[in-house]
Amino acid sequence: MTPAPAQGPAPAAGVAVISGAGRGFGAALAAVLAAEGWTVYGIVRPGSAAKTGTDGRVRFLEWDIAQPCPDGVAGVLAGASIDVVVNNAAVGSNQRTLAAVDPDSLAHLLDNNVAGAVRVTRASLAGLLRPGAGGRRPVVVNVSSRLGSAALQANGEFAGFGTSSGYRLSKAALNMLTLSLHEEFGADLDVWSVHPGALATGMGRSGASKEPATAASELLRELSEPGGTGPRFFELGSSAPLPW
Ligand SMILES: NC(=O)c1ccc[n+]([C@@H]2O[C@H](COP(=O)([O-])OP(=O)(O)OC[C@H]3O[C@@H](n4cnc5c(N)ncnc54)[C@H](OP(=O)(O)O)[C@@H]3O)[C@@H](O)[C@H]2O)c1
Repeated sequence: MTPAPAQGPAPAAGVAVISGAGRGFGAALAAVLAAEGWTVYGIVRPGSAAKTGTDGRVRFLEWDIAQPCPDGVAGVLAGASIDVVVNNAAVGSNQRTLAAVDPDSLAHLLDNNVAGAVRVTRASLAGLLRPGAGGRRPVVVNVSSRLGSAALQANGEFAGFGTSSGYRLSKAALNMLTLSLHEEFGADLDVWSVHPGALATGMGRSGASKEPATAASELLRELSEPGGTGPRFFELGSSAPLPW
């Protein structure tokens, strides 16, 4: 995969923690940041690191984030000075109607997509609150979806869209995590929810054509901004905020 070139000023290389770094957007972001000189800790499920292809420039940490943080991973993260945490790992669901959502699968979605982000953020917190190498305010990036917007849902924007109710619930909860983290840590951290766009990945809708490397370069560009602007929810590649 050839990363799309970043436009605009490149941020100083820092240290990033990315969950779900084995494929899709997470793998593309790990490759783009590593190519720019960042130190990247890529969280992948146990046993999957060997299948990835980032040429040894990413340090893989094996962790199923639906489980507690393994001691070895906790030690690595606690000892690092971290500039950016990207809560990217997520699972999808094809249970389209509320009636089709069975409670066990909803618990599985929330455990991966929401509690997983909480686990990764908590494991990274001491490192985030330590001055990092990149020289910007540290950032927690929750990779959400426009489908997590309660306001767009209320406006009927997703009527007939055919995506999973459970997935929408999980991304709305992730957006609330963004706001809650801002409330608690906003003096020291930036916290963003980002919609990456309709990506040509395993999770992407059929016909989705945006390359994950393009979205990765767009996020890199956002990281070149000084920060300190409060909680944000926006689509990568667009400066317009999304409604919560
Ligand atoms: N694709 C889109 O069009 C789109 C649109 C809006 C938002 N998003 C969001 O963007 C993010 C990336 O999506 P994607 O399209 O790149 O998805 P993807 O190709 O399905 O990749 C998801 C990644 O998350 C990892 N993962 C899931 N659960 C995990 C767990 N418990 N522990 C560790 N790793 C776990 C997967 O690991 P395995 O390989 O081991 O399964 C995989 O590497 C997600 O948060 C998604 O909701 C995507």
